[in-house]
Amino acid sequence: MGNKRVGILTAGGDAPGLNAAIRGFGRTAIGEYGMKLIGFQNGFRGLALDKHIELNSDSLSGILTVGGTILGTSRDKVHRLNLDGRERDMTGEIAKVYDRNKLDALVTLGGGGTAKNALRLQKAGLNVVHLPKTIDNDIWGTDDSFGFATALEIATEAIDRLHSTAHSHHRIILVEIMGHKAGWLTLGSGIAGGADVILIPEIPYTIESITKTIEHRKKAGKHFSVVAVAEGAMDTEYAARLRVADQLIKDADSPETKEMARNSKMHLVDSHREHTFTLARQLEAATGLETRVTILGYVQRGGTPVAADRVLATRLGAVGAAAVADGASGVMVATRASETELAPLEDIAGKVKYVPTDHEWVKAARGVEVGLGD
Ligand code: F6P
Repeated sequence: MGNKRVGILTAGGDAPGLNAAIRGFGRTAIGEYGMKLIGFQNGFRGLALDKHIELNSDSLSGILTVGGTILGTSRDKVHRLNLDGRERDMTGEIAKVYDRNKLDALVTLGGGGTAKNALRLQKAGLNVVHLPKTIDNDIWGTDDSFGFATALEIATEAIDRLHSTAHSHHRIILVEIMGHKAGWLTLGSGIAGGADVILIPEIPYTIESITKTIEHRKKAGKHFSVVAVAEGAMDTEYAARLRVADQLIKDADSPETKEMARNSKMHLVDSHREHTFTLARQLEAATGLETRVTILGYVQRGGTPVAADRVLATRLGAVGAAAVADGASGVMVATRASETELAPLEDIAGKVKYVPTDHEWVKAARGVEVGLGD
């Protein structure tokens, strides 16, 4: 059980709680199980290039509340790692680094993309344990991921503050919130911040429906509205075009047609990048109300984690250390209700936890007369 050598890395976007999880895992692994801990820098890139530092109680000290990740991060794919301008499959190289460092396990802290990399390495013979991190709350197979609670607080506070200007200037303010292709962060902060309209990717909107909500408010004497827009939100027309683009990729019967279909989807997605600004222009024209946009961006994932994320990250780290000590491999430490469980990476990687359109948060939003754009 004891004296295991364990590698740890953080990958994907930075999120509040990463350092708390490194500390939670590290302190338990070293203090309780006598393991040696090696931190690989900048995600899978550092692992492939064997860039590491030894982590001990000194380096794990004072990081609980610090934002970002002391290990650095990157969005690399192990089988398509860009090195000197060339994409290379580094899976075999990583297996060599793992052996050279005499590792018994690798712990990966990240989201859905990291889970895919972790599974690939597991299949290459490494013992991998994954801890779920993301502000998007979109990791399949777990109720929670650290980072989300903090981002939810930040986005909620932003909506609270935007109300002042919307109300005082009689404006519509659109606030664009992160979350990738899922609407959890926008829906949660929209409800908590009292947004008048909430637009999430899972529920495509029409301008007519949003306008109706805003006009209804105007009739009730409220000449302002705050609209929470997920970065992945889309109108019904774009949603239909996206479905066609996805179908074309699925149906492609040769590598060339697949490549063409992928490129055409890329162009479509690219054309959608500034959709919140387009929506603002459309709403201004439809309602006659002055309309402004605020993009929250990286503010949502920076800085110190809230207490809930610190507790979750520490807890997942400690359970992860126990799992490594027990010889677990190919698993993610998932939460289910108030418990943790080890979920097979095979069941998780490649899947996304979207907001079910009949989720209680959706029902709650409708219940308090929030317009969802449908
Ligand atoms: O996954 C976290 C996240 O912040 C998403 O909400 C967002 O879509 C994405 O990362 C942004 O990625 P990047 O850091 O590469 O700009």
